[in-house]
Amino acid sequence: MSSLAEKVAIVTGAARGIGRAIAEAFVAEGAKVALWDVLADEVAEAAGELGDSALGQVVDITETGQVKDAVALVLEKFGAIHILVNNAGITRDNLLMRMKDDDWDRVLDVNLKGMFICCREVSRPMGKNRWGRIINISSVVGLIGNPGQVNYAASKAGVVGLTKTLAKELSSRGITANVIAPGFIETQMTAELPPEMKDAYFKRIPLGRLGRPEEIADLAVFLASSKADYITGEVIAVDGGILLNTI
Ligand SMILES: NC(=O)c1ccc[n+]([C@@H]2O[C@H](COP(=O)([O-])OP(=O)(O)OC[C@H]3O[C@@H](n4cnc5c(N)ncnc54)[C@H](O)[C@@H]3O)[C@@H](O)[C@H]2O)c1
Repeated sequence: MSSLAEKVAIVTGAARGIGRAIAEAFVAEGAKVALWDVLADEVAEAAGELGDSALGQVVDITETGQVKDAVALVLEKFGAIHILVNNAGITRDNLLMRMKDDDWDRVLDVNLKGMFICCREVSRPMGKNRWGRIINISSVVGLIGNPGQVNYAASKAGVVGLTKTLAKELSSRGITANVIAPGFIETQMTAELPPEMKDAYFKRIPLGRLGRPEEIADLAVFLASSKADYITGEVIAVDGGILLNTI
């Protein structure tokens, strides 16, 4: 039997990249999936390719009203919510001395506050099942820092604290909460990095290559499945070993 049969999942930032790969992998494992994103055409196309098991929704996760409405529609269409993957994220890089307040605020708003809003709005319907999975996407940058990403690193470190707290708060409702910390994965986000930053990353990856979105999706499927019943509050890196090279 498929590992996610009869499960309903929400994946944020699912129009492309890692989120899309996770949505595809979940559908392949038998789940019904709501794909949320701000990119209307792209999210419609991504959901369309997945057929009746998917629902594409235009949702800005920083807007509480939009998240509430989207949750209501998922419940109306699929009847429950078992899995939430908080994947939507942005970068607005600059060195500390040049970073504008707006760039700090927007990155924290999307990467951390948006995640908090989604967790809060989904926790009640998820709690009704007495079973749930929250999977939050952080980054190795949140664990070790990175020059030029003070806002992003702070937001991704915040994801770890948020998730560990949820693991404690929601355990009595049968909900686990874990973090995936990707390394350097081939997506639009990394395509936009300056070449010198890419070169510096690449040299530090022991496995000698970038990761693929599907390799993050494989772990997300495992964490969402019953094989991960006894895992909560963990931070698992999928990074080709880059964390080994911090000194
Ligand atoms: N690519 C990497 O190397 C890498 C490494 C570590 C962590 N991550 C994290 O993985 C996640 C996915 O990254 P990706 O590389 O696939 O990036 P991506 O830019 O390809 O995809 C991110 C998606 O999030 C959506 N999004 C942005 N703001 C949103 C909002 N307010 N509401 C809803 N959706 C919104 C975007 O439209 C986009 O479709 C992010 O949280 C990112 O920080 C990526």
